[in-house]
Amino acid sequence: MSYDTESEAPKSYTLAWIVALLLLVGFVAGLLIFPPLYEAPKAEASDMVIFVGRFHPILLHLPIGSLIFLAMLEVLCMGRRGEAKHGSTALLALFVGAAGSVLAVIAGIMLSREGGYTGGNFSLHQTMGIIGTAGVLLALVIRLMAMGQGNWELLHAYRALFFLSFGIMSLGAHFGGNMSHGSKFMTEKAPEPIKSQMIAMEKWMLGFVEKPKVEKTEEKAPEAPKAPEPPKVVESPATPAPAPTPAPAPTPAAGEKLVFANLIQPIFAAKCNKCHGEEKQKGDLRLDTYEFTMAGGSESAEKKNNVVPGKPADSLSYQLVISAEDEDMHMPPEGKDQLTKEEIAILKWWIEQGASATQKLDLNALPAEIKAAAEAIVKG
Ligand code: HEC
Repeated sequence: MSYDTESEAPKSYTLAWIVALLLLVGFVAGLLIFPPLYEAPKAEASDMVIFVGRFHPILLHLPIGSLIFLAMLEVLCMGRRGEAKHGSTALLALFVGAAGSVLAVIAGIMLSREGGYTGGNFSLHQTMGIIGTAGVLLALVIRLMAMGQGNWELLHAYRALFFLSFGIMSLGAHFGGNMSHGSKFMTEKAPEPIKSQMIAMEKWMLGFVEKPKVEKTEEKAPEAPKAPEPPKVVESPATPAPAPTPAPAPTPAAGEKLVFANLIQPIFAAKCNKCHGEEKQKGDLRLDTYEFTMAGGSESAEKKNNVVPGKPADSLSYQLVISAEDEDMHMPPEGKDQLTKEEIAILKWWIEQGASATQKLDLNALPAEIKAAAEAIVKG
């Protein structure tokens, strides 16, 4: 025996329709005000935008929870009796999931205005998040129509669309996870037969968005070859510094080489500045000019200890570089291109010598253990 929902008088869902329309309008308006960007943002976002954006990692749990719950409910609702019993709960879960998705997407786009979000994982995450949310919103409209008319076929169509959108969103979420936990997070410990499949699948998907821009994809799949960063030479561009600057940038006389510009900067450029340069400032730290290097980042700015002249052991950048690779704050982060022993020795030597911007480079006077490596760096 089954309930016959169609014989019931079609219900009116006025309030539900109003809320659904508000969600749709909110989503479209949000996308118009904050259009998704796939390049570094042109202008700096206001603190308010970034403040709201940083709720993204919290907000996204709302759709995850409610849409998983809904997916389970929808299995029950495939029968008429289940629908009669759980249909309105499903609708409620769908509302919460749709609203959460809209909020998470808009907050996510606002967060991306912080800068530093490019690359394949980001592109896929953003695109699939938006498409999945649009799908869930459309699914909501169709469910409302189906329930209002007691139309069983429409309800099936809704369910298909919902599961599709849910799938797209889940995959999109995975690429978001890759951004915050590293690309290897899900695959690293996977049992072997699944592992290679997962990696192949990810690579295939990333292939759609990554090809054209090789040099910007630091978050991409671990197997892809790393594009070497062109080492920055001689002058430090005089970018306006956000923090007070301790010393003026050096301007070397023609032909003269400086320790900082010709030894230290190339190391930073190759191993650090993808995350601590013009485009990204992880930990609020830039290492692409002398001023920024000395000014430090979120922890070291106040203590003035990113680089402490004469004291490598007190210098945060040096401490993090020599810490164990699996240490939380180890730099460069685990899995990234690490400094060589010689590069570390050069960094240490420079700090011991006073971490000067203007110290001249005399290759012959360098300690024996760093001389060969230093020569190689200077030659490029
Ligand atoms: C793949 C990205 C990446 C690379 C490459 C990288 N870092 Fe970092 N760095 C980070 C992140 C992310 C943080 C912030 C960590 C946190 O706050 O938990 C950070 C924070 C720091 C900090 C702390 C700044 C402060 O004052 O709080 C220092 C110092 C630092 N990095 C130095 C370096 C050095 C030196 C290199 C190169 C040898 C380097 N990093 C390479 C991602 C990177």
